[in-house]
Amino acid sequence: MTDPTTALHFPPDFVWGVSTSAFQIEGAADADGKGPSIWDTFCRQSGAIADASDGRVACEHYQRWADDLDLIQGLGVNAYRFSVSWPRVQPTGQGAWNEAGLAFYDRLVDGMLARGLQPHLTLNHWDLPQALQDQGGWGSRETVDRFVDYALGIQRRLGDRLASLCTHNEPWVVAVLGHQNGVFAPGLKDEALALQVSHHLLLSHGRAVKALRAAGAREKLGIVLNLAPTHPATPSAADRAKAIVEDGRLLRWYMDPLCQGRYPVDIWLDLGEKAPKMQDGDLAEIRQPIDFLGVNYYSRSVQSADKPWDPKAAGKEVNEMGWEVYPEGLTELLLRLHRDYPQVPSLWVTENGGAFPDPWVDGRVQDEARTRYLQRHIAAVQAARQEGVPVDAYMVWSLLDNFEWSSGYAKRFGIVHVDYETQQRTLKDSARWYRQFLAAQAKGA
Ligand code: NOJ
Repeated sequence: MTDPTTALHFPPDFVWGVSTSAFQIEGAADADGKGPSIWDTFCRQSGAIADASDGRVACEHYQRWADDLDLIQGLGVNAYRFSVSWPRVQPTGQGAWNEAGLAFYDRLVDGMLARGLQPHLTLNHWDLPQALQDQGGWGSRETVDRFVDYALGIQRRLGDRLASLCTHNEPWVVAVLGHQNGVFAPGLKDEALALQVSHHLLLSHGRAVKALRAAGAREKLGIVLNLAPTHPATPSAADRAKAIVEDGRLLRWYMDPLCQGRYPVDIWLDLGEKAPKMQDGDLAEIRQPIDFLGVNYYSRSVQSADKPWDPKAAGKEVNEMGWEVYPEGLTELLLRLHRDYPQVPSLWVTENGGAFPDPWVDGRVQDEARTRYLQRHIAAVQAARQEGVPVDAYMVWSLLDNFEWSSGYAKRFGIVHVDYETQQRTLKDSARWYRQFLAAQAKGA
């Protein structure tokens, strides 16, 4: 198949990156004073993780960070998106800082700069200190204040060297999968609580952005959402109505308060008693100007009123998670975000990729399906740019195979293969292709 990216030209300052998160790669679960996070706790619950694994060792990135940065540099990207483990730097989520933890991220950020990589830092990629969960976690309004203190502490220590700082990664996942469906940490099943959590996440985002600006932050500030276009499975009125509600809960529930200072009225009214408790001024605080919106895109969402839509049964191409491969949805989503939320000055694709078969052939991982996926999505980004959408960054999820949350290690999203016995890293064909593509872009080809 021809590569749809061969004729594409991106501007020289376009941000090309790879993404990871702390809990998924670092390991060193209690090294050098790190406190436990809710994911450390959740992994110990029987049946929580498909292969009964945990994040205690993961990719040993805490020890191997310098080699991993060399690997990233070797790909020819100009950016690296990573997250800070809150309990590594502040073991109980309040009060005392852990110098050894801060020093780790200091070295990591300096290591990126030394290799010509822009550091893009995420504060909350889900590993909340367990001590804060013990006091109510994201369901408690106190956690909002704790998060602002954490943000300011990171800013003081690392802010001068960051390209960007993101408050939260995928608040919908924390709220819904963590507090409503119970399949992610902290494993709770309470819809009203999940909605309250979403409100506290948004509020803590807004307050942190405000506090960071007041503290003189010069890096770009934003938030990362998991977004998708939502389509009805059939043109029936019932499927169309369901698609509108699900779009409201996934996209408008976050984008409307962030950009317009209000929750979507249709969704709010439907919630009745379950609607989150707010205080005067909350909505104004949530709506802070942001410098970028990070979009994590994997697939579209298809909604049917009577039963969950199954892409495989519908004859669609799917990956190993069962997610449909649907690149045109990325163009559609970016166009829609730019049209409906012109307040956002810059859209970044902060995650895109997938778990695909990784066959070893002739000593190489020939992951053609992943390579093709990346090519088609990069072309989808360019299609949006050509329509005038300000998309300024694209980052692959993920650099390495890693701990895929409740799926454990069985699902591999890396463009670099990790042998968990030896911790050896091997570039898959997708990584080789990305390197070649980036080299061509750098030459202006
Ligand atoms: C989104 C999350 O941010 C990341 O942690 C996860 O591994 C990928 N999606 C793949 O599911």
